Amino acid sequence: MASTKVIRQDLLKMKQEGKKITALTGYDYSFARIIDQAGIDLILVGDSLGMVILGYENTLAVTMDEMVHHVKAVKRGVKRAMVVGDMPFMSYQISTEEAIKNAGRMVQEGGAEAVKIEGGLHMANTVKALVDIGIPVMGHIGLTPQSYHQLGGFRVQGRSEETQHRLKESAKIIEDSGAFAIVLEAIPMELAHEITDQCSIPTIGCGAGPDCDGQIVVTHDILGLSGPTKPKFVKIYDDFGSRLSECLQRYKSEVESRVYPDKSFSYKMEPKKIQKVNLEILSR
Ligand code: KIV
Repeated sequence: MASTKVIRQDLLKMKQEGKKITALTGYDYSFARIIDQAGIDLILVGDSLGMVILGYENTLAVTMDEMVHHVKAVKRGVKRAMVVGDMPFMSYQISTEEAIKNAGRMVQEGGAEAVKIEGGLHMANTVKALVDIGIPVMGHIGLTPQSYHQLGGFRVQGRSEETQHRLKESAKIIEDSGAFAIVLEAIPMELAHEITDQCSIPTIGCGAGPDCDGQIVVTHDILGLSGPTKPKFVKIYDDFGSRLSECLQRYKSEVESRVYPDKSFSYKMEPKKIQKVNLEILSR
């Protein structure tokens, strides 16, 4: 694993050499540092932070200010991984000018090295405009959570022939517009395989089967930190949620039973000061 900074050209080379790209979401300094040290190639500061960190029901309420705040924190923890900032709902849909202004903030204020935007055909001009001014763009098609209401919730996409055709076209147009990679979320594995073969840029699957060029998941999901409901494609590598809960209950019970803190976790006065206090008490 190279210790130099991962750039978009490395990801393309990995696809060409048949090496899998690893990606995870990151939202803060401490997690970003650990994810980076684990050698993950790309960290997406996803707008999923709205649900995972801020407790919203979906991603629609997330703002540019919130995204920039979290991108900055992640950047402080990362040395090697490529850091991609997710453009939140309504930060790029109104006009190309708004998209440029907000993507510019993500790079200039946040320090992101690329941005991600959701959508296919109708986002082609926006992708091109951002790439033209020097901002690398990652596309995102399939289940696009910012279209939550239009899709009728978080549902698998690309099951009908018509939507399969549309997704293949979308992938092509996003590639032709200059994106350096494309996220395929919650689509059948056979369709993801076809799109991956058809694209010369890397596909990063999120619930899109094993044949994508890389994989991304929400970090908190695979660590058991996201609550009881999880999508079918999420594998829990360790149930940190339960382990954390046990730790915190042990802390509570030790404080209540006066086990913690004992002398070994406490500071002592310097001997001279104790003497002085004793003398003061005696002289009263
Ligand atoms: O916001 C996010 O975390 C995402 C990934 C799951 C792809 O878009």
